[in-house]
Amino acid sequence: MKINISKAQQFVTAGAVEALEPQVMAAQKALEQGTCEGNDFLGWLHLPSSITPQFINEINATAKVLQENCDAVVVAGIGGSYLGARMVIDALSNSFGWLQPSNMPRILFAGNNIGEDYLSELIGYLKTVRFGVINISKSGTTTETAITFRLLKKMCEEQMGKDVAKKVIVAVTDAKKGAARTTADKEGYKSFVIPDNVGGRFSVLTPVGLLPIAVAGFDIAALVKGAQDMEAQCDLNAPVKNNPAAIYAAVRNAIYQSGKKIEIMANYQPKLHNLGEWWKQLYGESEGKDGKGIFPASVDLTTDLHSMGQWIQDGERTIFETVISVEKPNTSLAVPSDEENLDGLNFLAGKRIDEVNKMAELGTQLAHVDGGVPNIKISIEKLDEYNIGQLIYFFEKGCGISGLILGVNPFNQPGVEAYKKNMFALLNKPGYEAESKAIQERLK
Ligand code: PA5
Repeated sequence: MKINISKAQQFVTAGAVEALEPQVMAAQKALEQGTCEGNDFLGWLHLPSSITPQFINEINATAKVLQENCDAVVVAGIGGSYLGARMVIDALSNSFGWLQPSNMPRILFAGNNIGEDYLSELIGYLKTVRFGVINISKSGTTTETAITFRLLKKMCEEQMGKDVAKKVIVAVTDAKKGAARTTADKEGYKSFVIPDNVGGRFSVLTPVGLLPIAVAGFDIAALVKGAQDMEAQCDLNAPVKNNPAAIYAAVRNAIYQSGKKIEIMANYQPKLHNLGEWWKQLYGESEGKDGKGIFPASVDLTTDLHSMGQWIQDGERTIFETVISVEKPNTSLAVPSDEENLDGLNFLAGKRIDEVNKMAELGTQLAHVDGGVPNIKISIEKLDEYNIGQLIYFFEKGCGISGLILGVNPFNQPGVEAYKKNMFALLNKPGYEAESKAIQERLK
């Protein structure tokens, strides 16, 4: 993985990025020594290097049970309890699920919304297959996930019988507390623990992400190896110039301080759409607080050059761009030549599709820089488990450092509670009587 900030540095005053080095080092030290705010949630920091081959074997063994007994596996979870798994599975899967030659179960995601049609349609499909459920919730009480699990548990037991259901329902939750833990223990489900000191959005390298990724048939050992190597590269003792997470944290803060408040993550591979979704949660939930924080947005290019491209090129100059560039595609396809050349495309004949994509990428970078958009380029060699593992740790470490430079606690999310309180009051949840009364007054 490489990071190139030359096209971002030209937008900030000379030396602005370097000037943040002391803050970068202080942030790294605070993370390492556990002296920063949110220090009870630093379990992600050395998580990759703490993962043992035995633990990977245990996850793979559980994945095998699901693979052998299910045509589809539903991952029930929301926020940090699903975005990481979805990102990795999408990045590594065939773009069109139905063409996939593998005999792995189809991975479906639910419990991340409360759409009645979504759930009804999911249930409609599950009636036709043998399915399992991975119920993922750290708190074990999240409403979206809990409603979904209640529906799926009942259905799984009715459709496959209680004994099989016990085999194909797995819980990933807290060691002791929460309804998901109570149910798993009572029903005798296989379960994995989400460590107390790892917050949801930093949990993709725990069973939260590793189990669904393994069930999908991907090599979690290689994913973890990529993260381990990046953990070593981003070590506190590495010079900042060799530490990509430190460079990223410094440059995005320098740009933010220069007045650009929105960071757009751009990819040129449709499979990376959900990298943007995972990254938005990681950075948005970590940094958007106390009236501060870069707003993380994402686009899929070149697709969105035909929609958001106008805004990026020409709209209010408050944005900067972080591009994820994949150096080599995993397949090979060239533009064919055509005798008649009716479409005028013979100038591309024989060129790889990826070469056209790369020229679009370079042309877009130059155009956006000309249009006043600072550009950070993050390159990975190819889409595989190892490279995605590197990206995961890089972004996590960058987020921890960046949030501390910004001066917030990157590891809490107090703002997420506001909607829940109102929703529970509106639904007359026991314990919310006073809030219900107040909200009814407000709605009069
Ligand atoms: O990052 C976070 O902490 C959140 O996005 C949580 O992952 C999300 O709210 C789901 O919580 P839980 O796993 O407790 O169901």
